[in-house]
Amino acid sequence: MPDARNLETEAISGGVHHALKHDSAHKHVTGEAVYVDDIPAPANLLHLAAGQSARAHAKILSMDLSMVRQAPGVVAVLTAEDIPGENDVGPVIHDDPVFAEKVVEFIGQSLFAVAAETREEARRAALLAKIEYEDLEPVLSVGDALAKENFVLPDHVIRRGDSKAALDRSQHRLSGSLQVGGQDHFYLEGMVSLALPAEDGDVQIWCSTQHPSEVQHNVARVLGRPSNAVTVDVRRMGGGFGGKETQSALFAAIAALTAVRTGRPAKFCVDRDDDMIMTGKRHDFRIDYDVGFDDDGRIEAVDFMQASRCGMSADLSGAISDRAMFHADNAYYLNDVTITSHRCKTNTVSNTAFRGFGGPQGMVGIERVIDEVAFALSKDPLEVRKLNLYGGEGRNITPYSMTVEDNVLPEIIEELEASSDYARRRAEIRTFNASSPVMKKGISLTPVKFGISFSTKHLNQAGALIHIYADGSVHLNHGGTEMGQGLYIKVAQIVAEELQIDLERIKISAASTGKVPNTSATAASSGTDLNGKAAQAAARTIRERLVAFAASRYDVKPSEVFFHANKVQIGPQTISFDELIGQAYLARVSLSSTGFYKTPKIFYDRETASGRPFYYFAYGAAVSEVMIDSLTGEHKLLRVDILHDVGRSINPAIDLGQIEGGFIQGYGWLTSEELFWDETGRLRTHAPSTYKIPACSDRPEDFRMKLLESGWNREDVIHRSKAVGEPPLMLAISAFLALSDAVASVADYRIRPDLDAPATPERVLMAVERLRREAAGAEQTEAAQ
Ligand code: MTE
Ligand code: HPA
Ligand code: MOS
Repeated sequence: MPDARNLETEAISGGVHHALKHDSAHKHVTGEAVYVDDIPAPANLLHLAAGQSARAHAKILSMDLSMVRQAPGVVAVLTAEDIPGENDVGPVIHDDPVFAEKVVEFIGQSLFAVAAETREEARRAALLAKIEYEDLEPVLSVGDALAKENFVLPDHVIRRGDSKAALDRSQHRLSGSLQVGGQDHFYLEGMVSLALPAEDGDVQIWCSTQHPSEVQHNVARVLGRPSNAVTVDVRRMGGGFGGKETQSALFAAIAALTAVRTGRPAKFCVDRDDDMIMTGKRHDFRIDYDVGFDDDGRIEAVDFMQASRCGMSADLSGAISDRAMFHADNAYYLNDVTITSHRCKTNTVSNTAFRGFGGPQGMVGIERVIDEVAFALSKDPLEVRKLNLYGGEGRNITPYSMTVEDNVLPEIIEELEASSDYARRRAEIRTFNASSPVMKKGISLTPVKFGISFSTKHLNQAGALIHIYADGSVHLNHGGTEMGQGLYIKVAQIVAEELQIDLERIKISAASTGKVPNTSATAASSGTDLNGKAAQAAARTIRERLVAFAASRYDVKPSEVFFHANKVQIGPQTISFDELIGQAYLARVSLSSTGFYKTPKIFYDRETASGRPFYYFAYGAAVSEVMIDSLTGEHKLLRVDILHDVGRSINPAIDLGQIEGGFIQGYGWLTSEELFWDETGRLRTHAPSTYKIPACSDRPEDFRMKLLESGWNREDVIHRSKAVGEPPLMLAISAFLALSDAVASVADYRIRPDLDAPATPERVLMAVERLRREAAGAEQTEAAQ
């Protein structure tokens, strides 16, 4: 029997703070990981497709589906009339019909569903509908929506001081406008749902969703049944990125409706083009700014007008537009400030959550402003950034009255500036550009401060369920979903740590509404914070029961019972964890427990636009160096240095993966991914042939990522870690502004380049050409004088 000292030197494999690979990594690469479409097809499976609106805005005069019904392989055609409950899957406001009835509001909106023996047959048949429309005037752009005051939700304003008066008083003042593009999620696994009819009209659904509970509740509403008639299971997604926070519900509802109506299992595995046409994206924004500043570049006043393209319905646009406002300051203290948000209704697909949830768009606004202030004063933008950072007397309160208590940016920026050799490289780039007529380089360092918590208070809760079987093996379940981000292994590590057992003893199980109810979406980067705490609580409950049992059985004090390295020390003796479990079972001790967690301290008062919407902030900074070809606009990311704060990392390997992936996804958003709708409102970029996400070759050859070594969450977040899912995406703003810096060089940094996002080669070239033209014009004028 080992003595206590020996016990201390042993350790479990896979507790917290270990760099472990993703639990499914090997299955992802071998193809063994089971996604919904890999579940063996049940007998009699029906395949689904949706009939889509061909008009952006029109009345439906008639819908003739006879050809559809007669098409080969078709078993059923379902319309709004077949819905026993409510014809709606809207997450907040009920303005998202499953099937449009009288009016269509975007091209691609679902009108009916076809169930056939094969997917191909269903898709072909769906095209045979004869629909008569009477066109109504569509609103297709943010500008048009603003002019017509066409909004999905009321405006919101955050205000401090008197920005108008302060702007008038300022030594310097400038204004401008910026377009920030949207983004398609381009998850590798598209939307998919498989529904199995059960007894009494109940239904079991396997769905690719970040939000099993909402799918459950929405499907129940559509079926006109209570929530207990619907069970939703999610083992994993092949990526969600926010796209599967609300919009999986449409396909799940259609599959469930079909299963219930026909009595046959039904699968809706959405084709890639249809997925891109029928599902919402990141909101594109127009941001107008008016800023006043002093000779040093200190911002004295700023007005932001943010207009977001919400599309045809509200979806999550309220919370997304709020988060854009909450990040209009990014890392900077704004004294007199007004942020006005318009939530524009357009006849395009309803936009939705996307990594950062509006935060990135808000942040691009202020980072552009900082660059412009620096440009106007001929200063290094980094100097202006540092000058305006939160910190110092009375300069640590956000426009929404939350005190910034945990700002580690001065430390991060100082370390990154030195480790990336920013100053020397910036000088070298200037020298390079002076002697390089075609190829031009640019560099930029930008910080990120991102608020962690759902901006909707009640969503900040989670539940977990743990069973320990009589052999000592553990079944772990919680409300969080796995989309590749590594949530499951992190929560398993937390439970392993709590029970002091090897990670391999813990079975990671699919999220299921039958096991943990009323969960929130796995979103807002808070998956580990919430589910980790809930699972820890569940494990603690069982451990406490085991301690009480062991103490009484072995006649020692509870304080003499320790769990360590798969063993339990009980007074003078040590037994294995399994042995204790076996004994506890025979003694009729409950070996199953739920756990619950809710985030403390948070609140927000919309009336006064103030509060503490976030439990804490996550921070990071990046330096990007780029090169452009000033004759073609093509560009390349040469080197990226990142220093990011994840607190005390639960799993540094997973966290670094999130940082790298997030950065590259942000880089794609800001530099190559472009959504294009034609003048009729038809999305023309609905396949990888026309929509360009980053490829492996776009990863910079020199990519240096580091976690902040002193990282520590001052709040009681699980093992003092910090959320990591979304914040790194915004580090890519440095690449966008580095491109702008490179463009500025063509006119010797004398003319301000007003590059919009995404800075595609085309946009870069247009910006270069404008600067060259204006520079030539200026020279001619000088020569003439
Ligand atoms: N990472 C991968 N691999 N796949 C994803 O779909 N989604 C992102 C981020 N990282 C995503 C991802 C988004 S939008 C969020 S909100 C978080 O993961 C959600 O998971 P978490 O809360 O567990 O971090
Ligand atoms: N992030 C993601 N989803 C949300 C949020 C958020 O901040 N608020 C409400 N739903
Ligand atoms: Mo992430 S956008 O909160 O799903």
